[in-house]
Amino acid sequence: MLPRLKTIIPAARIHRPSVAPHDPCLLNLEAIVVEMQDPKNGVKGAEQKLNVTVIPHVIAGKDIIMWIANKMNTTPEEAQVFGTMLVTYGYIYPLQNHRKLVMSNDTSLYRFQTPYYWPTQKWVAEDSDYAIYLAKRNIRKKGMLEPYEQAHYNHLHEWLNHKWDFIVMQATEQYKANKERKKPDRVVFDCQERAYWMVNRPPRHTHSALDCGPDRLINPNADEVTESFDYQSKLLVKYITTYKNHDSFLAPCLPSNPWQTDNDTYWTLNMRRVEVPTKMRVERWSFSLFELLSDLRGRDDFKLFLKKEFSGENLAFWEAAEELKWGTASSMSTKAETIFKTFLAPGAPRWINIDGRTMGLTVKGLEHPHRYVLEAAQTHVFMLMKKDTFFRYLKSPVYKDIQKKALNPEPHNFSPAELERNAQNRSPGIHPIILWQQEEEEKAKATAAATPIDVKAVMSKIDRKK
Ligand SMILES: *[C@@H]1O[C@H](CO)[C@@H](O)[C@H](O)[C@H]1NC(C)=O
Ligand SMILES: *[C@@H]1O[C@H](CO)[C@@H](O)[C@H](O)[C@H]1NC(C)=O
Ligand SMILES: *[C@@H]1O[C@H](CO)[C@@H](O)[C@H](O)[C@H]1NC(C)=O
Repeated sequence: MLPRLKTIIPAARIHRPSVAPHDPCLLNLEAIVVEMQDPKNGVKGAEQKLNVTVIPHVIAGKDIIMWIANKMNTTPEEAQVFGTMLVTYGYIYPLQNHRKLVMSNDTSLYRFQTPYYWPTQKWVAEDSDYAIYLAKRNIRKKGMLEPYEQAHYNHLHEWLNHKWDFIVMQATEQYKANKERKKPDRVVFDCQERAYWMVNRPPRHTHSALDCGPDRLINPNADEVTESFDYQSKLLVKYITTYKNHDSFLAPCLPSNPWQTDNDTYWTLNMRRVEVPTKMRVERWSFSLFELLSDLRGRDDFKLFLKKEFSGENLAFWEAAEELKWGTASSMSTKAETIFKTFLAPGAPRWINIDGRTMGLTVKGLEHPHRYVLEAAQTHVFMLMKKDTFFRYLKSPVYKDIQKKALNPEPHNFSPAELERNAQNRSPGIHPIILWQQEEEEKAKATAAATPIDVKAVMSKIDRKK
């Protein structure tokens, strides 16, 4: 049995609630990893000589894959993919080629990672821990780190300069403590630690299962990407420059933040379907067609413009597609039928102009409708509006007009006494569900008023029922 590793990790570890976004999926993986290590029914490991040291519980990749295939009743190919997943998350680590986080279907050797290093542990891989690890490795390797480790080391040295003495001291202590252990334990411990950092601080530009956010590399074959980082950071800068005044952490909330002042004017002014929107809101519509359509008030304004142009079909179709995507399952076939008759059928009253191939696919798909059957056509129509109509809207008198009308609330300057009074008169506000219901009712009324009853369709339905 290995000694509990926790006891020799120094207290520098900062415990934090886990933030791993993959948690639920990882718990399933873990259940299987535990089963795999069952002494009776798990994968059989053996002692194995590696660089003159005998290491316990070593398993060949092909044995793990076979076990998975039997256990899960899958093909060997799937079992191999699953095995690789266990390696990329750091549950199993390779002993020989430690930088390739894959599971090979051969005699390559692997070991199970100790649960202390599993990604669901309630501590986060901290830079200072990584610095201690690298400093320790630097001592052991007498300054001969691998190039990527050297790069990380240099960066951390600069970044954590203020506590570098502490880091080196910790590293030295750990190095000494480790020297007192028996050789096989020491090798095992080194491998575990190295495997952990390989997963959590991989060489730059390699794919890592634990990555999330915009820098994430999705294609595991794209090992060395060098140019994309610059491009992504440019996009990020552009995004932030555009949105910074609209971020309530960075810019003041006008007239005042209801959570701070107990005055809910801000909410009233920004209801979903207000008569006159605020300047901020109108500005936001100009960022992209997506922003414009996401805001119901913006969408209404866009509709007004389209109505003047007699070209509301595209947006109406886009909305119908949204309805289909998010509506109830039971209403799906009725909705699909209506959409077909309104927009796609030959001679339809609001026929939309999309390319023949997309049209063909969509019409065929509608024979057996599902939620996403209109996705391709919807995207096509969105791009059409984005390239053309959206920019004309931004230059149109309709947009100029709403820009002029838009409100620019003066900031509230409440005195402490007034704040006190506001807090006492705090109102419960309107429940969002009620607001939503009101809007749905209005929408239903508007639709009923807008669509004339299609007598022919009703008749043909009655005929079919007979
Ligand atoms: C064994 O030696 C090889 C080459 O000398 C080295 O790359 C590898 O990391 C060593 N393995 C272990 C477990 O120390
Ligand atoms: C792994 O190797 C075994 C025997 O060498 C073979 O039967 C199996 O199909 C291989 N699995 C994969 C995924 O290639
Ligand atoms: C919020 O403050 C404004 C300005 O002082 C005031 O006119 C308004 O009545 C207040 N609203 C509420 C709900 O207290």
